Amino acid sequence: MCGICASIGNDNQIRNVISGLKTLEYRGYDSSGVALLKNGKISVVKSVGQIKCLQEKLADELNSKIVIGHTRWATHGKVCEENSHPHLSFDKKVAIVHNGIIENFEQLKKQLPNVKFYSQTDTEVFANLIASHSGSNIERLVKASKMVKGSFAVAVMFENDNKIYCAKRKSPLYIGFRHGQVMASSDVSAFGENFDYFYKLDDDEFAVVTKDKIDIFDKDLKLVNKAKALFEKAPFFDDFSEEKCFMKKEILEQPIVLKRTFFKYFSEKIIDETTLTKIKKFKKFHFVACGTAYHSALLGAEYLREFAKKDCEVSVASEFRYGFQNISKNCLYVFVSQSGETADTIACAEMVKQKGAQTLCVTNVPYCTLNNLADFVLPTFAGKEVAVASTKAYVAQVFTMLIFALLISGKDMEEELKKFALQFSIKALPDEVLNSALGYSKIFFVGRVADYVTSLEGALKLKEISYINCIAIAAGELKHGTLALVDDDTLVVVVSTREDLKEKIENNIQEIRARGGKILLLSQFEHHVDVEYEIRLSKFMEMLMPIESVVQLQQLALSFALEKGFDPDKPRNLAKSVTVE
Ligand code: G6P
Repeated sequence: MCGICASIGNDNQIRNVISGLKTLEYRGYDSSGVALLKNGKISVVKSVGQIKCLQEKLADELNSKIVIGHTRWATHGKVCEENSHPHLSFDKKVAIVHNGIIENFEQLKKQLPNVKFYSQTDTEVFANLIASHSGSNIERLVKASKMVKGSFAVAVMFENDNKIYCAKRKSPLYIGFRHGQVMASSDVSAFGENFDYFYKLDDDEFAVVTKDKIDIFDKDLKLVNKAKALFEKAPFFDDFSEEKCFMKKEILEQPIVLKRTFFKYFSEKIIDETTLTKIKKFKKFHFVACGTAYHSALLGAEYLREFAKKDCEVSVASEFRYGFQNISKNCLYVFVSQSGETADTIACAEMVKQKGAQTLCVTNVPYCTLNNLADFVLPTFAGKEVAVASTKAYVAQVFTMLIFALLISGKDMEEELKKFALQFSIKALPDEVLNSALGYSKIFFVGRVADYVTSLEGALKLKEISYINCIAIAAGELKHGTLALVDDDTLVVVVSTREDLKEKIENNIQEIRARGGKILLLSQFEHHVDVEYEIRLSKFMEMLMPIESVVQLQQLALSFALEKGFDPDKPRNLAKSVTVE
């Protein structure tokens, strides 16, 4: 995983690279580093920890018009400065930053018997392969790339050469231009404002970059004439910049996200009738996603079954990828992903395309790898999400897939959705609920059907950022095992928004209480059972209740993390975008 950012310009580029790396921290933040060129010589500065630690280490006298930088999420080798990027070649004349995985790095190392390696990474061998070749610097990079198996987006710097060299296969790489500065990055968001245009490199393309020129080559070193892409204007949001953390800000933005989604799909009609007609023809829909996006896919499938009467299946991408799949052309494969860069999800989309089936991608980032594999795109309008634990992107996915199911079904519910989008607001979590819940170290989440999905998402949020061991179970499954774990020290969060299932849930609550478990009930209606704690939800149409209820669970998780003194935006061991398998 990891993010790379390199910049070349008229003046010192350290600040630009550091600010670019900060926007890429969602790709990993366990260590970072930069390489710079000063009087033709390469110097490297690295630090364990977030980018701010690297920033503190960068002394004021250091400056360079050419800088390559990296933020890491460890795959090969533990978190330490030796394993942080940039990596140098044996002769210290080549520096490289890399996102991706070099699968054959062990074999390649054997081909360089005289080289001493200083790190346990797969990347260091790439720098040494480049150094071991002869020819012009771009020729050396192309030759080395041909030997490498796996995925890479790299930025490379050479001693005594005032240029940055880039190469890409499978991992994303963009090159942005503005007067007097060129930047290469894993994500266009690193370019910041005032860039004029950018190029998206395709697989096995290479770039040679100076401060005012970008030359792109194919693997035979023929110049490629690429179309320039322009920046989309960032979506407008109210200013929540005063909030202490991004997760809080992003939770608070959700009412705006819902309004924006409604207007995009109904006022601007961003999916046209021709597209809908094509999609309606599919008999089956198979959803594939990871993490939070998998949960929203479960709801997306439920909506399509209920409203459009479509046959639907849902798979976790890492399972779909290696399970036996009967790929059918009558099925539309739906890939749900906030980033559009999740490695497992992308691999599944590639596999489905190779087998001749069609794909629909539900993504939040317009320029992403997944959209390039899509026959149809269903954009979500959450705006940039920074916190690792997804909140507003999830709600945007759920609302978008509900709208989509209704459009496919032909049911006209525009007015009801509009009323909801305009009325929805964030209700603060009752203090007494938080104070009491904090005393439990064992927490289960239960619900049925859509409420079970909300439970899955609530449990994921809580474990991600508060490190509490919690699980979600379909309420009806409790007695098939999990009930054995319930005792006086157990809190069970029960989500109950389906009035027709109220009695079933009441029975489940009785079963839990009989074993000493304490209940936190989230519902919009009265239940005829005693519970210890309650969050009364606002009443909306049943199909909209997963949005109302999940927001309370997001806030519960956030409050736990803050109370325990953890950084909710950057939980340990995780990254926002999992760009390696
Ligand atoms: C990581 C993130 C999750 C996210 C998942 C899938 O695990 O921490 O928040 O749901 O990746 O990411 P995607 O970008 O494909 O939605």
